[in-house]
Amino acid sequence: MKIAVVGTGYVGLVTGTCFAETGNTVSCIDIDERKVNSLKNGKITIYEPGLEVIFERNLKQGRLSFTTDLKEGIEGAKIIFLALPTPPGEDGSADLKYVLKVADDLGPILKDYTVIVDKSTVPVGTAEKVHNAIAANAKVDFDVVSNPEFLREGVAVDDFMKPDRVVIGTKSEKAKKLMETLYAPLVRQGNPIIFMDEKSAELTKYAANSFLATKITFMNEIANMCELLGADVDAVRKGVGTDTRIGKRFLFAGIGYGGSCFPKDVQALAKSAEDVNYDFTILKSVMAVNENQKTKLIPKIKEYFNGDLSGKTIALWGLSFKPYTDDIREAPALYNIDMLTEAGATVKAYDPEAMDNVKNLIGDKITFCEDAYSCADGADALLIATEWPVFRTPDFEKLSVSLNNKVIFDGRNLYTLDEMKDLGFTYISIGRQI
Ligand code: UGA
Repeated sequence: MKIAVVGTGYVGLVTGTCFAETGNTVSCIDIDERKVNSLKNGKITIYEPGLEVIFERNLKQGRLSFTTDLKEGIEGAKIIFLALPTPPGEDGSADLKYVLKVADDLGPILKDYTVIVDKSTVPVGTAEKVHNAIAANAKVDFDVVSNPEFLREGVAVDDFMKPDRVVIGTKSEKAKKLMETLYAPLVRQGNPIIFMDEKSAELTKYAANSFLATKITFMNEIANMCELLGADVDAVRKGVGTDTRIGKRFLFAGIGYGGSCFPKDVQALAKSAEDVNYDFTILKSVMAVNENQKTKLIPKIKEYFNGDLSGKTIALWGLSFKPYTDDIREAPALYNIDMLTEAGATVKAYDPEAMDNVKNLIGDKITFCEDAYSCADGADALLIATEWPVFRTPDFEKLSVSLNNKVIFDGRNLYTLDEMKDLGFTYISIGRQI
C-alpha cells in the first residue's frame, strides 16, 4: 500500500520506517528542508536503537522517501498519517496549529478517497476539527481516524512492530478495513486491534499516559513515606507489584518522570478537564508531587555538606530523561543542575548519548566528561539521575579512588543497601534507609 506520513519527528520517522519495513511504500513529508535532505541522504535525524538499520534498508530498497512537498508526498497515498507536534500552549492545552494547518492544506489536494490519521497525541475532539478543516475544501470523500501511538522512546521499534494493542478510532467501515490491512502484519500474535469512536481513542492516549504517570507518582509518594517510616520502597514495590491487578511495571520510585510525553499529556488532560469544569484532583497532585520529586535529593546533598555547596564539585551520572535516548526534555538531571549550580556547586557530567543536547542547551555551565570515571575524578559526591546500564555495576574500587568522599546520591536506586554498606559508601537513595 502507498502511504504518506506528514511530520518526520520522532513518531513520524518511526511510523514511516516501520510501515516501509512491512512492505508499504512510504513517503515522509516535512517542512524542514535540512532534515529532509539529511534523511534523503541516508542520515538518520534521531537516536533510536534499532531504527537506523531498517531506515537504511528501506531507503536503499526504495520503499522510503522524503520530500518537503505535501502534494508530491501524498500522491497515490491511501492513508495519510499526521505525526505533527502538539506543543503545550501557555495555558497547558495542546496547541493544534500545526495539525490544523496541514488539514487546511490537504483539503484541496486530495484526489481520491483517503484516510487521514491523527497519530499525534491530540485533545478529544481533534479528529472532528481536522475533519471540518479538510471538508472545507475537499472535493473527494475522506475519513479522519484517530490512531494514537504508544511508543516508548528507546524501544519504539519493538513497540511499533509488536504493539500490546492498536487503538483505532473511527465509525467508518471503509476506514476500518484499510487500517486493519495496514496493521495486519503487526498483530499476527493475536494482540488486538481495538476499534472505537474517535473521541474515545483520543482520550485513551491521555488516560494511558496519565495513569502511568500517576502509578509512578504514587510509588514516589510511598517512597517518601518509606523514608519517614523506616521502610524500604524496593521491598514494598515487590510486595505490591506481584498482585496481578497492580502489575510489576512502572512502580520504580526515583527522581520523577520526565520526557516529552508524560509531563505534557498530564498537563493537557488536566487542562481539558478544566475546560469542561471538571476538577481532576488526582492529576493536579501528580504534577505537584513530580515537580518536587525531581530535586528530592538536593536538600540531602546540602545537608551532607552542612548546608554549603560553594566550592564543591558534584559528579552527575546521566542527563537524558531515561536510558537509551538522547532526549533531555523535562529531564530531572537538568533541574538538579540548576539547583546545584545556583547553590554554588560545580557540576561535571557524563551521559552516554545526551551530552551534545545538554551542551547545546546550557553551554559551558557544566563540564562534560569522557566517561563515568573521569566524571567522578576529584568530585566531592556522585549524583545519579538516569539508570543507564553502564552505571549499574561500576568498578566501585576505581570509584572510591576517584571520588574525594565515598558518597553516592542515587536518584534511581541502582545499588543494594547491603553492597553499599559493605563497600563503605555513604549511600543516599530514594525511599530507602541510609
Ligand atoms: C511514554 C509512554 O510510556 C508511551 O507508551 C507513550 O507512547 C509515550 O510516552 C508518548 O506519549 O509518546 P516515554 O516518554 O518514551 O513513553 O517514556 P517511558 O518509558 O514511559 O518513561 C517515562 C518516564 O517515567 C521516564 O522519565 C522514566 O524514568 C519514568 N519512570 C518510568 C519512572 O520514574 N519509574 C518507572 O517505574 C517507570
